[in-house]
Amino acid sequence: MVFWQKGRLAFALVLMAFLFFGQVDFVQAKSQVAAKEGILLAAFGTSVPEAKTSFQALEKAFRGKFANTPLVWTYTSQIIRKKLAKQGEMIPGIADALKLLYKQGVRVLRVQPLHLMAGEEYTELERAILLEVKKHPTRFQAVYIGRPLLESREDAEIVGRAVLKSSQAKRGEGTALVLMGHGQEHGRAGLAFEGVRQVFAGLDKMVFMATVEGQRDFDELLAELKAHQVKKVLLQPLMLVAGDHARNDLGGDEDDSWASRLKAQGIAVDLNLQGLGVLPEVAELYMEHAAKSKDDLTKEPKKQ
Ligand code: CO
Repeated sequence: MVFWQKGRLAFALVLMAFLFFGQVDFVQAKSQVAAKEGILLAAFGTSVPEAKTSFQALEKAFRGKFANTPLVWTYTSQIIRKKLAKQGEMIPGIADALKLLYKQGVRVLRVQPLHLMAGEEYTELERAILLEVKKHPTRFQAVYIGRPLLESREDAEIVGRAVLKSSQAKRGEGTALVLMGHGQEHGRAGLAFEGVRQVFAGLDKMVFMATVEGQRDFDELLAELKAHQVKKVLLQPLMLVAGDHARNDLGGDEDDSWASRLKAQGIAVDLNLQGLGVLPEVAELYMEHAAKSKDDLTKEPKKQ
């Protein structure tokens, strides 16, 4: 074979390979267009500007991992949405957020609730999305809902270690760490909280937890601190954002804040006003829950 014939053969082979793989690429690109993914981050919401750092950190992490993917926020609290709207900040409710994502071409949606535990609010959010899906059955090919932050024992260990690490610098020798969870008066949240409390205590015996609106209250916390002869505490919220509860109910100057009530008992108090959302481990866990969810709300449950 003369040189130019060899060259032609090689050229033909390269051309065939190019066409073949090009074809595959083209088919893949076509199917990707057909099922564009999108993210919906659903939080209770906050109107405290300083608390936004948590949301900003989470958004940055999600945009990094799910690049070129439309991302929309929704706040489940109508009161907070109305308050923000008066200040010119429009955050959509669930129905509007889903419509927005659909209009952006999203056909496979990943909803990640930013709730800490699967309490009543998580259930309400899930139901609200399910109702929207039923109302507009042709919009999305799939709507996956992610589990909350603290879903498994392993989740609690990851978050517990991250919380301990983040408070280390502020927490001196012999100082107990006191975490304020939100909690709910009724329902399963109280039980989930007890599970998390036990896992955290397993990591560090000097971590104490109670809730501002839940079943484990301040009096139980105080009794426990006294039983352990705690003289000094670092207070920190176990909430996504260091918002109103952290700034007022936990660390506020009023007589009924946890800080004031502990001081009145002769316990020295230090504050760490930091929401969980700023911890990279927390963002990582939410993203994992979002990416791994196979719970598609558009599908009928499997027959048993
Ligand atoms: Co509250």
